Parts: sequence; structure tokens; C-alpha cells
Amino acid sequence: MRVLGIESSCDETGVAIYDAEQGLIGEALYSQVALHAEYGGVVPELASRDHVRKLLPLLDEALADADCDLASIDAIAYTAGPGLMGALLVGASVARSLAWSRGLPSLGVHHLEGHLLASMLDDNPPEFPFVCLLVSGGHTQLFEVLAVGQYQLLGQSLDDAAGEAFDKTAKMLGLAYPGGPLLAKLAESGEVDAYRFSRPMTNRPGLDFSFSGLKTQAITTWKKSSQSAQCAANVACAFEEAVVDTLLIKCRRALQQTGSQRLVIAGGVGANRNLRQRLRAVLGKDQVEVFYPRIEFCTDNGAMIAYAGCLRLQAGQCDELKINAQPRWDMQSLPALI
Ligand code: KG4
Ligand code: ZN
Repeated sequence: MRVLGIESSCDETGVAIYDAEQGLIGEALYSQVALHAEYGGVVPELASRDHVRKLLPLLDEALADADCDLASIDAIAYTAGPGLMGALLVGASVARSLAWSRGLPSLGVHHLEGHLLASMLDDNPPEFPFVCLLVSGGHTQLFEVLAVGQYQLLGQSLDDAAGEAFDKTAKMLGLAYPGGPLLAKLAESGEVDAYRFSRPMTNRPGLDFSFSGLKTQAITTWKKSSQSAQCAANVACAFEEAVVDTLLIKCRRALQQTGSQRLVIAGGVGANRNLRQRLRAVLGKDQVEVFYPRIEFCTDNGAMIAYAGCLRLQAGQCDELKINAQPRWDMQSLPALI
């Protein structure tokens, strides 16, 4: 089975073609970062309009990259949610119309399931069951994953997502949008012991997170400092250390609670090098295997949607003849693969 996947839930337009036998055979991605940069964050209406402009050219690009045409596509998967309603509707309408016009089955994929399964695109994919830390711009969640579609939420952020806290702290330090990767870069030149921020909610039981206080600590420290370039790097470093340490403590706790020896990282913050190195170094000593997607598959892309869609379409799942877009959607409500 050959599946065309379309991602348009936020500010990246992604198209990819996944073949059940050959793997990922073509992809194209366009990031709207420059478009939103001057506003310091994603402007939903501008995002939708840009998806409209970019989606069809990207479709041609992905097909050319795969050296195939629409006639060889067996099914179409698209991100149905969660995400920005207008942005989702663009991908959903194009995908559903294309599928209808060619008489193909189509399926609305859960964006976070796409992230969660992205490390399966790797040469050394994790086996089930595992614990998944999903850290994106909108979500920070720990799941026990028994199989595709069997997701047990263990804990989540009660306020800001980790990526959101990265972006807000970066903005306050005067960095451009999206600040997460820029803050991580700045942190590299910080002095590790200059400041120490708290590790929120780690001194009590449970697997929930809270990152908004950490963001406030960073802001307060920055305002009280001399606001030099070195101070900015030191604040960035202390912030990143605190987030990474907190995520590490909770992952270890989740692994102990579930008795699992496998941890899978998913979502945009999973691209953070400090997080990747620390989790592997520390948890490796506990004989825990840590899996990550390739850096480019941590952030939004079409490949993860084509792949997750392919697994479900192969199992015979497909949507009725309707355009499916759900800005809010609980991943635990997804059906299991039979
Ligand atoms: O998964 P994603 O592409 O979009 C959502 O589904 O939310 O995640 C984007 C988030 C942003 O908050 C971005 O700043 C953050 O991931 N991010 C990073 C890094 N790369 C992306 N945060 C920290 N360090 C990075 N290297
Ligand atoms: Zn995402």
C-alpha cells in the first residue's frame, strides 16, 4: 500500500509518500516561520492562507521526489487534529477532495499519534510496549504505549507545554520566533552554574508537569540582571537545564511505574540536543533504551502522517465521505489496530 500524507495543523505544510514495502519514498516540507516571525507567534489566518498557497506545489514536489504520480497512490492520510481549525481545514479539504476524485480511501490522522510513531521511521525502531514522552509546542504528556492506538495517559502539563515555555522565555530574552531552537543555541554559551531554577513538581509524587513558573523565574532573573549578552546566555542555560532535568526525573518515574525499559521521545522539543544527550546518558545507566525520531521528524512533517495513516489504512480503517477536522481531540479516544 502506498499512502500520501498531508500535514497542515499549524505553521508547517508537509506532504510525504510512504510505501508499506519501500518505506518513505518522497517528501516535501515548507515552514512558515518567516511569515509569522514579525508577529512573534503564529497568526492563524495567515497560516491557513499560506497552506492554501503552498499545498498543491508541495504535492507535486513530493510526487517528483518519490518519482511517482497520483495514479500509484492507494490511499490518502491527512492531519485531522488537534491544531488550528482553518489550517486543518486546508489539508483536510485537499486530501478528502483528492481521495474522492480518485476513488481512494482516506483517513484523518491524529497529529500527536503521528509524532508518537515518528521514531518508527528510523532504521532501529522501538518495539512495543514503551513509555513515550511527547514534548511539542502545544503538549507535554507521558503515555504508556502498549500498541498502535493503545495509549494510556500517565501525566501531562497543567499549564504551559515545554515548547511553549521555551518559546515564551526566548521571546522575553529578545530572540526571534520560534524561540525554542534559538534559546537552545544561546544556552550553549551559558555558564552552567550562574543560576539555578527549580525543577517544578518533582518533589511530590505524580507524573504531571508545570512549566509556567519556570518561565516566570527566567523572566524575573533576567530583569534583575545586568541584561548583558552573557546574562541572556546564562538565563537560557539555567532554563534549559531545569526543563531537561524535570523531564528526565518524570521519565524515570514513568519508567519505574510501568516497569518499562524503553523510552520514546516525540515532538518538536525532542529535537533539543541537550535533552537527547542527557536522557540517553542517564537512563542508559539504568539499562533503558532511549529512542528519538531523526531531528527533522521531531518537528511537524508529512512523513509521520503518511506513516501513521498507512498503519491504520492497512488495518482497514478509513473515514466516511466527510471532511474531518477536530481542533481538540483526545488521543486516548483513538481505536486500537485490530
Ligand atoms: O511538534 P512541533 O513541531 O509542533 C507542535 O505540534 O507543537 O513543536 C514545536 C515546538 C516549538 O515550541 C519549538 O520552539 C520547539 O518545539 N522546539 C525546540 C527545539 N526545536 C523545536 N525546543 C527546544 N529546543 C529545540 N532544539
Ligand atoms: Zn506537532
